Amino acid sequence: MKAYSTYRNLPPLAGLSSIAEAMKSGLSVEQCVTRLKRHHYAFKRLHHIFTARITAEPIYELKTAFSLHAHICAEHTAVLRKRVGEMREPPLGLEEIPHPSLEIFFDEILGAPTTEELLLGLYEKAVPSLKGALERHIADTNPLADQPSVRLCRFALLELEDLLRFGRQAIASLIDEPCRQRSSEWLRLLEDCLASAGGLGGTSEPRQVPVHRLHSVKPYVYDRVPRRDERFPDPYNMGVNAEVFLYDPKFPPEPKTLMMFYKRLREIDVPEMMASIIVETPDKPWDYYRDMTRQLWDEARHAMMGEVGFANLGIDWPKDVMVNFTWSLGLNTQLKPFERHAVLYFIEQGLMPKNGKRFEWEVGLASHNPLSALFQDYDWADEVLHAKIGRDWYLSQFKNTQEAIRYGDESWSRVLMNWGKGRADGLRQHRNWWPDAYRAACRTWGVEPDPEVLAYSTTYETVRADLKELTGSA
Ligand SMILES: [Fe+2]
Ligand SMILES: [Fe+2]
Repeated sequence: MKAYSTYRNLPPLAGLSSIAEAMKSGLSVEQCVTRLKRHHYAFKRLHHIFTARITAEPIYELKTAFSLHAHICAEHTAVLRKRVGEMREPPLGLEEIPHPSLEIFFDEILGAPTTEELLLGLYEKAVPSLKGALERHIADTNPLADQPSVRLCRFALLELEDLLRFGRQAIASLIDEPCRQRSSEWLRLLEDCLASAGGLGGTSEPRQVPVHRLHSVKPYVYDRVPRRDERFPDPYNMGVNAEVFLYDPKFPPEPKTLMMFYKRLREIDVPEMMASIIVETPDKPWDYYRDMTRQLWDEARHAMMGEVGFANLGIDWPKDVMVNFTWSLGLNTQLKPFERHAVLYFIEQGLMPKNGKRFEWEVGLASHNPLSALFQDYDWADEVLHAKIGRDWYLSQFKNTQEAIRYGDESWSRVLMNWGKGRADGLRQHRNWWPDAYRAACRTWGVEPDPEVLAYSTTYETVRADLKELTGSA
């Protein structure tokens, strides 16, 4: 061994490791697959928890972060499934639960009754223990023989670090010491679950500790009613019809960028709605969940593009723009999961012709607001992917396209937005917020408001029927 050297001292083994490191016995294929299945189970359960908790979580920044973290977990789940499939003949046993205490561990976090406990469970227990399991896999396995697993563990660690960084900051912002103290018994239970399972990766000696369910005594029930934080003071507001303004040629492009930022930010209702389809549609191939979660994340990104657009123009959106949740509320509470998917497909297939995403991008270009043009450019590109996802997982259920579109149209027509209902209790005043938002932008632009633009006051009450294919989120 001592005498061995590479040609002119080049790095050995394609740079993977030293010759000596590649001589260690490491993990057998059996041991490696057992560990990969634990990593897979953790990512799959985390994907489900992040997705299931988007809709009813009121805080916007958590909705968007859960959307990203669900997408990341769905991607790593897919990669781990593929790797196990490379090493074993079917059945792969990927739906089996690796240890009963691990099931309780994730059930408890899924059922956490408060946002604070959810954050502590996810970012102080689940994600760190998964990170530890992946690091241990890399340390224990033979770097040459098991290189494909090492590679995917390294990529996963890169993104888990992002989750942890967000989680640490979120916990520092939202959770004080008394709050943490109130959760201490439950946090101990989570640790006991891990100890009883021999750690998340199964590499420690399992400890004989009793684990009694606290938050998961009753099976988890998904809450499909969207909630928003206090920056959405009028979530039933349908007082400003963005599409009628956008498609009216008499209005100039600059104020139209405001309507497009509004339409983008309003898209936070799409993750709220898509989460309900994903959570309430069981037993699909993993690629279904992976694709749908990618789109869910894209829609959260679109919402954040609107947020950035408003921040860039100095518009205080919580005060000057009333972002509603009527679409996700209506779909989630009035339609079945497949009907919701039908509505999504119906709206998105209507966005591709000249009246849709291309038009919005052209308005962005004409407005000389480079941020609007850039965001609409990517929004359009994302829509190409979403149309494909719709073809793969929705359209494929029908004999022909016409039937699929008709079913979506019918489902959409059945959703009642209850325009007038609730006026008496102070909801649904449909205040016209447009003049305030437009004036704020004019101050930033240093121009006098155009009286015709300022006077715009078309609501969603009467014109929705004509433009219905354009009024949804996507
Ligand atoms: Fe979108
Ligand atoms: Fe979309």
